[in-house]
Amino acid sequence: MSADKIAPKISGNKNREKVTPASPIGVFDSGVGGLTVLRQIMQKLPHEDVIYLADTARIPYGGRSPQEIIKINNEIIPFLIEQGAKLIMMACGTSSAIAYPEVKDKYPIEMINLIDPGSRAAVEATRSGKIGIMATAGTINSGAFQQAIKGLDEKAQAEAIACPLFVPLIEGGFIEADETKRVAKEYLKPLLAAGIDTLILGCTHYPHLRKVLQKLAGKEVVLVDPAEEAVADTKKLLKFAGTLKSRGGQPRYEYFVTGPELHFQDLGSRLLGKPIVSVKQVKLPG
Ligand code: DGL
Repeated sequence: MSADKIAPKISGNKNREKVTPASPIGVFDSGVGGLTVLRQIMQKLPHEDVIYLADTARIPYGGRSPQEIIKINNEIIPFLIEQGAKLIMMACGTSSAIAYPEVKDKYPIEMINLIDPGSRAAVEATRSGKIGIMATAGTINSGAFQQAIKGLDEKAQAEAIACPLFVPLIEGGFIEADETKRVAKEYLKPLLAAGIDTLILGCTHYPHLRKVLQKLAGKEVVLVDPAEEAVADTKKLLKFAGTLKSRGGQPRYEYFVTGPELHFQDLGSRLLGKPIVSVKQVKLPG
């Protein structure tokens, strides 16, 4: 769904009176994956304050049941609203695929998911119509990307593969390790054999492997990071709602985790390429 289509909804946003351009964007993921989305926010929305929640106590999300993913979302979203978020960015492919349809109208806040923007970007990028999707098992099994792609272009062919080993490797910091390259090569095999020319990085952890994946897939394959389009949508939406923060001093980035602080702080700083100065541990209700 384009931002133009979803934008009018915000005028009826019940949270609206409480939020201002100075309110932060709420971003969440199971771990360091959402930092690839945060990076896009830092580039495209450089004045916005952000509250980032990494649900590291429950990582990985990818193998969890749809019921668990929805329950988790129903704990995280109220937390971010409570912190004053003006918009929620689901910086998690699994939540976007499984929970977004269930929670999008349940809360008085606008939410951005990754499935629609990622599919749109892939359909625009492909020349052959053969689009690969790499994501968690939960996302692939939901069929969300496959359906969104078909909805945009009936003739497009989606080749999907679940990549359950990527998140543990990335969270372990094995970004360019030989093991990671070997695993990536195996996951890419069926997609390349199917002749894809475009590949959706359907889990927010995977853009951390962009260099490795691009090298193995070859430069003729376009890698699509759904966050790029999702953040562009966010900008349009905030502008329409009059809550875009387009100036001001240094933006404030606040980090919360449900697991240990130190690991997230160390790995996150390394992956983000900027120091994460402080991380607070929180207990979510439920
Ligand atoms: N980064 C998340 C996603 O985009 C979650 C991955 C996981 O925890 O398995 O799906």
